[in-house]
This record gives sequence, C-alpha cells and structure tokens, in this order.
Amino acid sequence: MAELKNNGERGAERWALWNALIALLALFIVAAQPAFAQSSSGNPNVRPPAGAVNGGATAPMVVPEKGGSYDIELWTKLRQGVQGQVSIMDKKAGVLVDSSGETWRAVRNGPLPTYGAYAMAGILGLLALFFLIRGRIRIEHGKSGATIERFNYLERTGHWLLATSFIILALTGLNVLYGRYVLIPVMGKEAFASMSIVAKWLHNYVAFAFMAGLLITFVLWLRHNFPSKEDFIWLAKGGGMFSRGVHPPARKFNAGQKILFWLIMLSGISITLSGLSLMFPFDMPMFSKTFAALNMIGFDLPTQLTANEEQQLASLWHAIMALFLICVIFAHIYIGTLGMEGAFDAMGTGQVDTNWAKEHHSVWAEEELAAGKAHRPSGQPVPAE
Ligand code: HEM
Repeated sequence: MAELKNNGERGAERWALWNALIALLALFIVAAQPAFAQSSSGNPNVRPPAGAVNGGATAPMVVPEKGGSYDIELWTKLRQGVQGQVSIMDKKAGVLVDSSGETWRAVRNGPLPTYGAYAMAGILGLLALFFLIRGRIRIEHGKSGATIERFNYLERTGHWLLATSFIILALTGLNVLYGRYVLIPVMGKEAFASMSIVAKWLHNYVAFAFMAGLLITFVLWLRHNFPSKEDFIWLAKGGGMFSRGVHPPARKFNAGQKILFWLIMLSGISITLSGLSLMFPFDMPMFSKTFAALNMIGFDLPTQLTANEEQQLASLWHAIMALFLICVIFAHIYIGTLGMEGAFDAMGTGQVDTNWAKEHHSVWAEEELAAGKAHRPSGQPVPAE
C-alpha cells in the first residue's frame, strides 16, 4: 500500500515537473523567435536608408528623407569603416564609423540569444526526459540512520557563496540578454528600466562575491579533483546513473564531479576576466594578449585589436561562457535536489547517511567509517568498520 502511494506520489511529481519544463521550453522558443528577428533587422528610425549598407555602391543616389538627404555612396564608404585623413594626433578618429560594431550588434542580437535559448531549453528538456525515464535515484539500501560529515562549515559557506552569487549573476545577466523581449511585454518599459538599473548594479557588485566563492572552493577542493584510477571505471559505467543497482567506486568526488569542478573553475575564471575587461573598459586588452599567446603555439590570430574590438569580443565571450555555465549548473542543481535522494543533505546540514555514502562514494565512505567518523542522530559514535 505504502509502495503504491509512493509510486502515485512519484507519478504526480514527474507529471508536475514535465508540465513545468514544457512551459519553460515553450517560453524560450516563443521568446527566441519573433523578437530577435525584429531586433536584428534594426529600428528604421535610427538606421541608414534601405540599400545604403549593401546596395549603396551599385546605386549611388541622394535619398531625401525627413527634410535631409543621404549620399549613399559616401555613407557606404563610411559604413564600411573607410580610413579618412585627420590632423589630430589620434589617427583612429579618421574612421567615422567602426563597422565591426555592426557585426557585433548582429551577433549579439541574433544567433547569440537564439542559440543560447535553445541550449538552455535543450538541457532542461534532456533533464526532464532523464527524470521521466530514470526517476529519482534512491538510496537503494534505505537510510541507515547513521551519518558522516561530508562538507564542513567552511566548505558549505564557500559553496553557498558561489552558488547564490552565481544565481544572482545568472538572473541579472539573462535580464540583459533577454529581459527586453520577455519582461517588457509583461511589466512595461518604465518598470523594466527601473528594475534593470538595480539588476545592473547588482550584477557588477555581486561579481566580487562570485570571485571570492570561486577562490574559496578552488582552494578547498583542488586536492580532491585530480584524476584517480577509480574515475575510469566510474566513467565506463556511466557513473551508475543509467541503471539501478550499479554503484561504481568513487573517492570524495566522483569523475562526473571532477569534470564539473574543472568546468566551473575554468569557465568561472574566463567569465571573471572578460567581465573585468567589460567593467574597466580599455584597461584590459584581454583578447590581444590571449591571441598573441595562442599565436605562439601555431595559431594565426589578429593581435592589433582596437579598443572597441576588445570590448565587442569580451561582451560576446562573457555571454557565451555564462550561457554555457548556466546549462552546466542546471544539471548540477537537478542532481543535487530532485535527481538524487540524500544528495542535498551534503550541502544542507553537511551530514550524509552512511548508506548514501557507501553507494555513491564507496572509497571515501570506507575511509571515514574505518576512522570511526560515523555517528547516530543522538551523537553516539558508530564503532569503526
Ligand atoms: C540551488 C543551487 C545548488 C544546489 C542545490 C547545489 C547542491 C550541491 C550539492 C548537494 C553538492 C554536494 C554533492 C556531493 O555531496 O557529492 C554540491 C557540490 C558542488 N557545487 Fe553545488 N549546488 C547548487 C549550486 C551551485 C552553483 C551555482 C555552483 C557553481 C557555480 C555550484 C558548485 C558546486 C561545486 C564545485 C561542488 C563540488 C563538486 C560537486 O559535488 O559536484 N553549486 N552542490
């Protein structure tokens, strides 16, 4: 009876999740389509006349508009970034229109948010599918009642500093990329503008909490994240994720967690550097230096980037890496909450059930149990195994 009720509850749980994820998927696809198409075609009030950008050279003419006139041939040259003569020291001022900005604008308002939305919806869809097929990964032998400390207070503080700051940065960053398409229709321009000013400041300042969280967790967990022989078995068995009763051995962190750790650290550092270069424009020529380093190992990349090109690349790279990390974190949050029974306790109370530890981190659990570190809820220690 209890089993039936349990199955019923699980069915309802799955159904609710499935519905929520379909709604999310629909939201992203609806948001991605017409709004971006409209934005990349530009606002006719502030753009040059039709034909000026592409057809100008073949159709030189003066188009009267709003009482003024455009010389399309001249505009085309300016628009394509022609270098003119100036008598001032800064010769860059001879370029009236930096046309790399137009390419940046097209990518920033077109493929970037569109593919970003598809990636996020795709990963949520895959997680929903995984949940429907595999269900919640249960503690197969049930809870023993005895627990071991998995993460101490400092580790949990570092994790939650990293996690909460990342979630704030993700939400405020997504607002920069998608807010105007998704939120303006819901809350209106004025409310959106006021909210976005707060969100922008939050994004700039919370970035430093993220950097601190990244540094703390890196220092605390680095030693657990070097490859070990168990990792190969773990990977070969898919971590036991896809079949019941399979529990490949793992130390404190399994191979999946080690991969996650390095993805978070490397993309976190990359997001930090590109974010700093956006925050302090023109002071950090990050791409010229990176390209110069890559050229030393055989690449052939431009190293004389203008300050504007540096900013354009930084803004695109920052967004691409952030979207990538958001997708990775969706999977992490899923497995740390809904996806696996007993996992959240590791970061909640810091204590995990000994049966959970034996099933998911057998090598680590054996060491802890042998050292007599397990105890009952009353505080009474469990004799060493
Ligand atoms: C609501 C959000 C989150 C929840 C519920 C959550 C939950 C957890 C849990 C339960 C663990 C311990 C896993 C274990 O005992 O083996 C963990 C570990 C970890 N978390 Fe999170 N986390 C969240 C967000 C984040 C974010 C946003 C980041 C980074 C940007 C992050 C980075 C890490 C890292 C590096 C580890 C150690 C490696 C691992 O266990 O995968 N977490 N998290």
